[in-house]
Amino acid sequence: MNNAETQRKALITLQGVTRRYRQNGGTQTVLEDCTMDFAEGHCHVLLGRSGSGKSTLLNLLGGIDAPDAGTISVGGREITAMDEEQLTLYRRRDIGTVFQFFYLLPTLSVLENITLPMELDGRRPAELRQRAMDLLARVGLADKADTMPETLSGGEQQRVAIVRALAHDPLLVLADEPTGNLDRNTGEKVLSLLLELTRETGKTLVMATHSHETLPFADRIYEVRDRGLQPIDLEDVLRQERDLQERARSMRREMAAR
Ligand SMILES: Nc1ncnc2c1ncn2[C@@H]1O[C@H](COP(=O)(O)OP(=O)(O)O)[C@@H](O)[C@H]1O
Ligand SMILES: [Mg+2]
Repeated sequence: MNNAETQRKALITLQGVTRRYRQNGGTQTVLEDCTMDFAEGHCHVLLGRSGSGKSTLLNLLGGIDAPDAGTISVGGREITAMDEEQLTLYRRRDIGTVFQFFYLLPTLSVLENITLPMELDGRRPAELRQRAMDLLARVGLADKADTMPETLSGGEQQRVAIVRALAHDPLLVLADEPTGNLDRNTGEKVLSLLLELTRETGKTLVMATHSHETLPFADRIYEVRDRGLQPIDLEDVLRQERDLQERARSMRREMAAR
């Protein structure tokens, strides 16, 4: 890591962030006193077992949920201090989201799905159309612009969702298990497109995923556990995977020897 890398400025700053859920009379603390930065222009990957709090964190960053304590700033603005109106604009203009399920509107064409959110924001249709078409071409779907989403495969729908997440030129792209609903091969292709496009456009990406194929492309990897985020090293993850495989092999050998 060179100096320029270490000095990259923070796009996101969390200060003492705590999020609890109250349920059935009990309280569950998912994040507790979490303080950290996410550098601008990087691809940040969140690992962690199911229920560890990955989606909770992404929802906080996206301004669709608020912490019980602490502050969150994105691009120098404190989103935890925004009122509802400011938050609506923040979500619409500054955030692009890719979910596990694609959430394309079935009654709109592919192109309309991409441009509608921006038209609602009062941007010029012609300009939007051009940008959307350029991005659709980039993901290999220029010829699908006027078709309806339900005629597309899962992988194609997710590529449209990626274009929708980037078309309005957001500050931050959030992806929550974007390949969770795709077969492995399709998932890998979709992921490389997401990574290529965010990189080309210089976007900051925070992505929760189970797919270890992404790890070599990540600039930073964290594990969400014990109510916080632990930075982890790619080599550590690969070593753990090799250890696990070795343990499985020796268990199989033992069972075969019995
Ligand atoms: N709206 C909610 N109400 C109550 N509990 C919730 C809510 N959202 C998430 N949780 C709980 O918080 C924990 C973390 O959930 P989540 O952030 O979805 O984890 P992950 O995305 O890592 O699987 C889980 O135990 C989950 O059941
Ligand atoms: Mg989740």
